[in-house]
Amino acid sequence: MKILVTGGAGFIGSAVIRYIIGHTQDSVVNVDKLTYAGNLESLASVAADPRYVFERADICDAPAMAQIFKQHQPDIVMHLAAESHVDRSIDGPADFIETNVVGTLVLLEAARQYVEESGKKNFRFHHISTDEVYGDLEGDTDLFTEETSYAPSSPYSASKASSDHLVRAWGRTYGLPCVITNCSNNYGPYHFPEKLIPHMILNALSGKALPVYGDGKQIRDWLYVEDHAEALYKVATKGKIGETYNIGGHNEKQNIEVVHTLCDLLEELAADKKPEGVSAYKDLITFVKDRPGHDRRYAIDASKIENKLGWTPKETFETGLRKTVQWYLDNEKWWSRVLSGDYKLERIGEGQKDLKEQKYGS
Ligand code: NAD
Ligand code: DAU
Repeated sequence: MKILVTGGAGFIGSAVIRYIIGHTQDSVVNVDKLTYAGNLESLASVAADPRYVFERADICDAPAMAQIFKQHQPDIVMHLAAESHVDRSIDGPADFIETNVVGTLVLLEAARQYVEESGKKNFRFHHISTDEVYGDLEGDTDLFTEETSYAPSSPYSASKASSDHLVRAWGRTYGLPCVITNCSNNYGPYHFPEKLIPHMILNALSGKALPVYGDGKQIRDWLYVEDHAEALYKVATKGKIGETYNIGGHNEKQNIEVVHTLCDLLEELAADKKPEGVSAYKDLITFVKDRPGHDRRYAIDASKIENKLGWTPKETFETGLRKTVQWYLDNEKWWSRVLSGDYKLERIGEGQKDLKEQKYGS
């Protein structure tokens, strides 16, 4: 099969592509605009594979999307391209509406036209979304199910909720074969350091404050990104058309607990890297002003995907977080180029060959 992945240079998209190239015989067309969040260096391990092609394009560009569908004739679309960071959506919501809502509309229309014109059989459009569309949970024990009503709180989650509605409508009105997944917080290798876990690891290693929003008691349900990638492939290839699947790791943790655990892991794995003047990583924890509209608790009921598709996460939070901290300790080259901005040079691999000449498509 040929799978068109949008947002494949991002955190989760790159894990999906590494999974497909590493674990299946399928080929991948990665369609990515390379915003600040896109990093081709996260795909260094697959870039030379003949089953991988990169197309630099904006999903809001209708002619470019039509051309890409026509040229590559995909069997499946896995749509991950999005603006993904809640804090950025509060500072500047317009980009979120443009990419997450308008971009999804453009992609749906390109897919619809492609299926109609090519007569492609068994085509599937998989929209990758978030648990944030459900808003936050009041109690300590209730869980988001696929039937939970939508109640997004931030411009980011409102834009993702809108895109979910569009996908559902294109399925119902035009018969476009769609599946949707709503997942909890991911963590793991190649995570952009604006997000909680990599932000804390890298700040700690450079002796900077670890900024915990509000009282730090907000709860997120953490899933290791490679477990998510495997779940996404299952849904894309085996999920029932018209259905939604919630994906989560059964790892509910308060933010402050996560930060304490990270500090403990760094004490164990990186005692020798402690910056001068820091006697304990925990001493860097600093409570700061809360995020406006901050959702209190997310937690996923993942029983549908477990029962219907036989997926369960392989990593516990303890094993996954340890692997993640070790990955950041072992991959300073990747994150130092992100922090310096050098990753934007869009160069990759041995010899620093310019991808613009080598691999950029239309
Ligand atoms: P990310 O920000 O790391 O990556 C997004 C990618 O999309 C980048 O490579 C970027 O260059 C690309 N992109 C952005 N705008 C584009 C455009 N207009 N055209 C083409 N490409 C564009 O995001 P992520 O964390 O990997 O999330 C991927 C998807 O999964 C998103 O749809 C997000 O809403 C969803 N999601 C994320 C999480 C999480 O914890 N990170 C959890 C659940 C769902
Ligand atoms: O739930 C899924 C969502 O998880 C995805 O849809 C989003 O794309 C993804 O960014 C993530 O959203 P969050 O807002 O939960 O992730 P973030 O890493 O920004 O923050 C996690 C929690 O930590 C949140 O409660 C805010 C808090 N936080 C975050 C940062 C960056 C801090 O306390 N300090 C920080 O510096």
